[in-house]
Amino acid sequence: MTVYQATASAPVNIACIKYWGKRDTKLILPTNSSLSVTLDQDHLRSTTTSRADPSFQKDRLWLNGEEEEIKDGGRLATCIKEMKALRRELEDKDSSLPKISGYPVHICSRNNFPTAAGLASSASGFAALVASLAALYQLPTDASRLSLIARQGSGSACRSLFGGFVAWQMGEKPDGSDSYAVQVAPREHWPDIHALICVVSDDKKGTSSTSGMQRTVETSTLLQHRIKHVVPERMRAISEAILARDFDTFARITMQDSNQFHAVALDTDPPIFYMNDVSRAIIALIVEYNRVAVANGGKLKAAYTYDAGPNAVIYAPKENIKEIVELIVKYFPQADSFKDPFGLFSGKGVTGKVVDGFNEAVAKPFGVGAVKNLIHTRVGDGPRTLGAEETLLGENGLPK
Ligand code: DP6
Repeated sequence: MTVYQATASAPVNIACIKYWGKRDTKLILPTNSSLSVTLDQDHLRSTTTSRADPSFQKDRLWLNGEEEEIKDGGRLATCIKEMKALRRELEDKDSSLPKISGYPVHICSRNNFPTAAGLASSASGFAALVASLAALYQLPTDASRLSLIARQGSGSACRSLFGGFVAWQMGEKPDGSDSYAVQVAPREHWPDIHALICVVSDDKKGTSSTSGMQRTVETSTLLQHRIKHVVPERMRAISEAILARDFDTFARITMQDSNQFHAVALDTDPPIFYMNDVSRAIIALIVEYNRVAVANGGKLKAAYTYDAGPNAVIYAPKENIKEIVELIVKYFPQADSFKDPFGLFSGKGVTGKVVDGFNEAVAKPFGVGAVKNLIHTRVGDGPRTLGAEETLLGENGLPK
């Protein structure tokens, strides 16, 4: 008997121009376009296996070993239904295709990074779900078409259907058919863009993106200014900077847009604070690091950005990452030694130091654990279809 099964992995993305606000909460249509960098799946990824089988009782899904409820009309159910509909279209056109669109599916998904790390996993998770169902159903791989479906799982997920530098065009149609992701440039265009993720410890439960952004839409007047007068020009300018490999402009816009996203969060009633003292200290360090570079006649060397939590993501050309790691470790001593996937320190430990001319008084040093972990990665590729040996489902159709 044929087993209809496929496994795919998908990357995390971190936005430079932030998506924050929906004009349609059911279809997940945004109030502004956004743009992100896809990170390397060799370091951070979600992997998903999907199987269609007539003997299954119903659609079921497991995430990191735990079964998740697929609520009727919910985001998971919508994505699965839309993918089955695409398969049915093919089957209707070509009667030689096995009619698997009517079979229930079992879906098993895993992240290779701990959920506790506070890294958004919904983007890579929904992208991997859609990519694995696309492989299972042997759909023609038009990533923009698939991004329309991933978008309905989680807005930011639509951008994880592509590698490199990715824009989510907000579109204007009420049915959402023009609200999808497009690639601005593949990773090969600018492979020098690396990222250092500073995982900041956080005990309090923050406001989720979904509910936070809705409150912002309802109460912030600053958001209206951002949507109308700021984002359109930034989208144009940052796309141009990416095409020209102009890091100075890329960095300036990325930091400005992170700042404005956190400003509209603060402008929400009641106000939302995602950054904490550690996040703000990291901003001060990057600002000072850039000041020294510019004072020496150079250009910006690093850009910080923050999502709906206190973690910092620092984008920089590869050649600067070593200095940045030294800088962060000086102010945020690490319990564990720096995992050095690119061999920057050639086996020698990180001592923690600042560049010449750096004003050390811009931040106070914190204790061990304030920054729990540093993850060095870089711009990466889009979803990958994996071989049968990578399957997460056992022969019985349950998680292995
Ligand atoms: C701050 O995509 O998680 O990371 O569409 O409600 O699932 P939903 O929200 P989500 O929001 C991401 C917000 C952000 C900015 C961004 O990624 O663009």
